[in-house]
Amino acid sequence: MKNNRIGLKLGLIISGLFLVVLLFLGVAVDRMFTSFYYANMRTETEDLASHFTVMAESSENDTMGMMGTFAEFSGVGIYNVSREGNVMMHSGVEDHGCMSFVRSSDLNAIFSGEKVSYLYKDPGGARHFVSVEPIVKDGQVVSALYIVASTERMDESLAGVRKLLILSGIGAFLLALGSTWIIAQFLSRPLLQMQKATRKIAAGELETRVDIGNRDEIGALAGAINDLAVDLQRYRDSRQEFFANISHELRTPITYLEGYANVVKERLYETEEEKDRYLDIIYMEARRIQHLVDDLFELAKMEEGKISLAPEWVDLAELAGQAVEKTKLKAGDKNLELQYTVEGKPVPMYTDGARMEQIVLNLLENAIRYTERGWVRLRLSFEPGEVKLAVQDTGIGIPEDELPYIFERFYRVEKSRSRSHGGTGLGLSIVHKLAGLLGGNITVTSKVGEGTCFELHFALRQEER
Ligand SMILES: Nc1ncnc2c1ncn2[C@@H]1O[C@H](COP(=O)(O)OP(=O)(O)OP(=O)(O)O)[C@@H](O)[C@H]1O
Ligand SMILES: [Mg+2]
Repeated sequence: MKNNRIGLKLGLIISGLFLVVLLFLGVAVDRMFTSFYYANMRTETEDLASHFTVMAESSENDTMGMMGTFAEFSGVGIYNVSREGNVMMHSGVEDHGCMSFVRSSDLNAIFSGEKVSYLYKDPGGARHFVSVEPIVKDGQVVSALYIVASTERMDESLAGVRKLLILSGIGAFLLALGSTWIIAQFLSRPLLQMQKATRKIAAGELETRVDIGNRDEIGALAGAINDLAVDLQRYRDSRQEFFANISHELRTPITYLEGYANVVKERLYETEEEKDRYLDIIYMEARRIQHLVDDLFELAKMEEGKISLAPEWVDLAELAGQAVEKTKLKAGDKNLELQYTVEGKPVPMYTDGARMEQIVLNLLENAIRYTERGWVRLRLSFEPGEVKLAVQDTGIGIPEDELPYIFERFYRVEKSRSRSHGGTGLGLSIVHKLAGLLGGNITVTSKVGEGTCFELHFALRQEER
């Protein structure tokens, strides 16, 4: 029962309500039957009284004898009472020695021509229904005719009805109790299951799932718990993968740092040039670590939603031109032709200029990094309602089946090659997140050996058009 609190509460509430309803219903039915029986008995006794009065008022001689037979037959007592309260005649089954049912106030009413009926309880506790009518002869009330009928048979019938009511009440109550218990079990079992499952999930067993069963609210809750478990599992896996990647990315440059620093420290070089080369490597690897830490920091801030944008009116054509200028040297080193074109009528954009430049620089650096000959082109086009920014190259390209993953953290197409280029696989995931933050979206098309094209789309707001 300790685990089945809902069942207990529900059971108590429903049974309590049922009990109250049954009690009210029982009392109402009992009242209904009682008044029905009383009304019936009253009519019967009054009918008998009228009947006997008519007989008594007739002048036939054997009337009294006939009345006696009728009274016996109907199981009532008949009393003919004088104005003073004396019994002038009695017949029938009933004999009430003390005659206390004759009340002087009634006699006054009857002798003034009225009819009276009432319920009377004799000194022995037995109840009777009394109906009185005046016997009128020659326009004068000569006596009062009392019909006294015992309520015993009526009381017996009523007791029978009550017994039946109580029995059916108990039956209905037990039925309600049983069905609430079943409903409570039905409701609380999945909740208990979910409780167990969530405890397991909290304890780290993220493979735990709950049976969804019905598509009702409880089923929806089970579905939500399952979704939560899937999310937690994905989160745990990606976190593990993330740490594995970070440690892997850090281990390589640190090994280099350690090795070459040792070579310099132990003076294991022959010429000064050789030493400078080793120091260059140490410097490059230190910068790589710096770059990695910066990128990780940036990504973490973006993922926590802590990055704050500083929007301003930006001339995108000028901003892209500056980015091209900055990468000119790198492109020149590789003998790549760096082109920049602007199409359409430039309009100012209200956006974070520094972040926008970061996106363009990242894409341009990638294009230069992964292109050995040919050209790299930045095409900016202002179209009605949107701005398109495309960075295209004639480089090594990306295999089609890898395209869906290149925006993931640490994803590199050709691991060893990319490393030789100095990349860590974080640049595009930063670009992707930044583009999203600035309200744009990025797509990529590529063909291995022919080149790659990254396209950014930004919808222009009303005030920017
Ligand atoms: N223009 C491109 N041409 C061919 N391959 C590309 C190009 N841009 C990106 N890639 C591939 O996509 C991978 C992911 O790019 P991303 O910019 O995220 O990482 P990275 O350049 O290796 O390192 P980082 O930018 O963090 O220094 C790269 O490793 C590379 O293999
Ligand atoms: Mg990159």
